[in-house]
Amino acid sequence: MTHRKIKDQKDYIDLVNELIEHDKHYYKEAKPIISDYDYDLLIKELQAFEKKNPTLIHPNSPSLRIGEALTKGFKHFSHLTPMMSLANTYSKDELKDFIKRIYKLLEKEDVKFCTELKMDGTAISIRYEKGHLTQALTRGNGKTGDDVTLNIKTIKTLPLKLHSSEKNIPDLIEVRGEVFIHKNIFKKLNEKREEDGLDVFANPRNAAAGSLKLLDPKEVAKRHLDVICYSIANAENFVSSQFEMHNYLKEFGLPISSQKHFNLCKNLDDILSFANKIEKTREKLSFEIDGIVIKVDDIKAHKSLGFTGKSPRYAVAYKFAAEQAITTIKDITIQIGRTGILTPVAELEPTFVAGSTISRATLHNLDEIQRKDIRITDTVIIEKGGDVIPKVVSVDFSKRKKGAKKFEMPKKCPICLFDVENVKGEVAYRCTNLNCKGQNLRRLIYFAAKNAMDIEHLGIKVMQTLVERGFVSKPSDIYLLNEEMLSELEGFKEKSIKNLLDSIKKSKKCTFSRFIMALGIKYVGSESADLLANFSKDIKKLQKLTTEELINIEGIGDIAADSIVEYFEDQNNLDEIEKLLSLGVSPQKPKETKKDHLFFSKIFVLTGSLEHFTRDEAKKLIKERGGKTSSSVSKNTDYVLVGSEPGSKFEKAKKLGIKTLTEEEFSAML
Ligand code: IVH
Repeated sequence: MTHRKIKDQKDYIDLVNELIEHDKHYYKEAKPIISDYDYDLLIKELQAFEKKNPTLIHPNSPSLRIGEALTKGFKHFSHLTPMMSLANTYSKDELKDFIKRIYKLLEKEDVKFCTELKMDGTAISIRYEKGHLTQALTRGNGKTGDDVTLNIKTIKTLPLKLHSSEKNIPDLIEVRGEVFIHKNIFKKLNEKREEDGLDVFANPRNAAAGSLKLLDPKEVAKRHLDVICYSIANAENFVSSQFEMHNYLKEFGLPISSQKHFNLCKNLDDILSFANKIEKTREKLSFEIDGIVIKVDDIKAHKSLGFTGKSPRYAVAYKFAAEQAITTIKDITIQIGRTGILTPVAELEPTFVAGSTISRATLHNLDEIQRKDIRITDTVIIEKGGDVIPKVVSVDFSKRKKGAKKFEMPKKCPICLFDVENVKGEVAYRCTNLNCKGQNLRRLIYFAAKNAMDIEHLGIKVMQTLVERGFVSKPSDIYLLNEEMLSELEGFKEKSIKNLLDSIKKSKKCTFSRFIMALGIKYVGSESADLLANFSKDIKKLQKLTTEELINIEGIGDIAADSIVEYFEDQNNLDEIEKLLSLGVSPQKPKETKKDHLFFSKIFVLTGSLEHFTRDEAKKLIKERGGKTSSSVSKNTDYVLVGSEPGSKFEKAKKLGIKTLTEEEFSAML
């Protein structure tokens, strides 16, 4: 393939269409007709043109698949029809009741049911206008959802433009489906998070939902989300049968469940045999499901059946029980966290549950152990639902060994042997030694983690080795590491040494907010760190803030304020910060608001309900641009932003001759 140059808009559109065809060959048919290398060259060409001509970017551009565009928060929009949830059933009897109820309400027994997989992901509503994907909303509160269009566009199995077939493409169609993450991708994602010292996702559902709400579509693209469509808003305008719905969607090129995963059933027996078949193959599926969904097949009947609460009457979920296994507890060990909290962990006789071998399960805290009376050598039932962290459900007391002793929390920290104290008013136990090696390791991992100093290649394992070798005992030691030291470590070669040293160097230029996070001050998470960074602008000023000054920062509470003051009263902490700075760590001051922005020093008043922003979001946007907000209109007010059904503030603004702005005008000024 030859390198191409895009000369004009026509060349650009040709290339967009050509790449869409290649995507189809690759993702839909799994039969690419060009090499990955050639495809990348074309994409690069496309991106170069788009960078120079941002106004010409086509809404279907394949570059959107790799998440090039950036979102800033999410706007909210209304769904065409509400997105409801399903009522759950757990037993054959409950299912029987559902069928009986349907027979009664429809006044007939000749009713067909469509059975489908209940995907364990997060619901999405995708709007196509004249065949083009124009909007994707999360379920939100059921009536309005978050606009995650740019994120959804990274899902490669989802067409940006509906395929035309014999069927006419509707002017407007809102497709409903489930966004999910495949099990293998989920596993890799969590492994990487663990290495980076980040919290792992409890299950693929959380990972999918969390990924969909990331602000940077480029990051979303890395999560390789997938989607399966199963419904349409106002379905009765498009199809007459739920079973046919799948084929209807498929003809437009939309991803649907595999043919063997939906079925037409005549009665309870048919439904149960479908459920059994699916439950047996559940483990082999590449994604998680948590049951099946049973829907009345006749779409016309859906409306007449109505709904109760938030669930329609035409469908129910039939949930599978979480997968369980029996095993024994070989030991109960203790894990020490960053703040010294002791977490008991059950070391199990390895056993296979829900697709993986389980050898450990968290026991959470002493209360949980006492409530379930869990003892070492006990035979226990363990359970793994959608969650990756398995639980001990209960003890089989009939198998309890004689002399099995009640578990007691150690009086001394198993790592540093210091006293352990029961945290007042909490179920937690904490190691009292601030210099505990266990805590220290967790703090170092936290320091280097992605949402703090973001030092790539410095995950749990590497940090552990560095600590064991005595090279690192406090954060500043990381910035003293050199080639010679790293070459002594097993498995470290020229390339990995360079990678690590490069990322350490890169991390020196961190944002002030991340630097505050990295300090690991108790009760200061990323949101508080942002607030502190924006308020104090530099570390010297932050160190000197009093409790009163801290509490006055909107969003900082008493507990966090006390903890911040306490942290900076400790000379060791001040010395360590000094050392980090002297070694070249230079937290970047938060950007000054642009003085030349239209909003700078202007006073805004908001009235009425806004469609595209929450009030807080609008206020934040104003403040970020140097403007101020006030709750009442006066002659000092510069602008009144007017939503629908405005109150008396609107009248007052008119009376005083103050400029009013519609949401559109406001957005344009942003
Ligand atoms: S139908 C009124 N079909 O389950 C309900 N939902 O608990 C319309 N889900 O929010 C949804 N697989 O996110 C339907 N085959 C399927 C589904 C499914 C998964 C999810 C969906 C919904 C939740 C309800």
